[in-house]
Amino acid sequence: MSNGKKKMTIADFKKYKKEGRKFSYVTAYDYTTATIVNESDVEVILVGDSLGMIMLGYDGTTPVTLEDIIHHTKPVVKGAPDTFIVADMPFGTYNVSIEKAIENANRLYKETGCDCVKLEGGVEVADTIAAIVKAGIPVMGHIGLTPQTAGMLGGFKVQGSTPEGAKKLIEDVKAIEKAGAFSVVLECVPKGVGKAITEAVEIPVLGIGAGPYVDCQVLVTQDLLDMYGDFKPKFVKHFAHIRKEMVEGLNRFHKETIEGTFPSREYCFNAQVEGFEVED
Ligand code: KIV
Repeated sequence: MSNGKKKMTIADFKKYKKEGRKFSYVTAYDYTTATIVNESDVEVILVGDSLGMIMLGYDGTTPVTLEDIIHHTKPVVKGAPDTFIVADMPFGTYNVSIEKAIENANRLYKETGCDCVKLEGGVEVADTIAAIVKAGIPVMGHIGLTPQTAGMLGGFKVQGSTPEGAKKLIEDVKAIEKAGAFSVVLECVPKGVGKAITEAVEIPVLGIGAGPYVDCQVLVTQDLLDMYGDFKPKFVKHFAHIRKEMVEGLNRFHKETIEGTFPSREYCFNAQVEGFEVED
């Protein structure tokens, strides 16, 4: 179902930033969720490798494969025709060689119908971004806390919390912009650093745990709707409590089942069949 919104284009990303118009961005990994996001006002969907934890129960994003992302992106593209769709390039799909990165980006783009691919890293992936863009595929960058290589960063920690660290992130964002990325995710940095990075480039900075001065806010849908469980990073706000609602709904179903009050007449096929009549 659509709410009549118009799908963002690549050109809109820069235009929105220029006009100071904020927008929002969430994850989806399946058809039903994609249709719900499509019906909302949210403009952008990420089929993120966070699906490793949220959908597949892994401890991190590293084991996620290109096939996993392709499998989950196809139903999202089908379910959200009015929403801009980003597909994540998983760990191992762009760190072998530039040729391999182009080959994998081609597969993701061609086989799913997504609107762009996203990959993690700063200065060190700028050549890869430039090559994928040159091959005709729009690229979104991702800097700050990069979950695929969190081990190298000393774990899931706030990034850019020293002046040197903040300066390195500014170099990263400039390199990504120069390489031709049309936007960049910035994850887990102090808000003043988020502001400086946002002001350093013309491409929009899409912040998750990066404070209020960025151009767009990103959250994982299962986090913002309080579906995932007890783990809640500091930057996540719960805008609804869907897990509780779901457990309560399941318990009402269970209770009516064991009491025998479900299914009542309105949920039954009530035609009497000769020889099989029941009290009505
Ligand atoms: O995979 C993901 O959900 C992401 C977000 C954290 C931006 O990359």
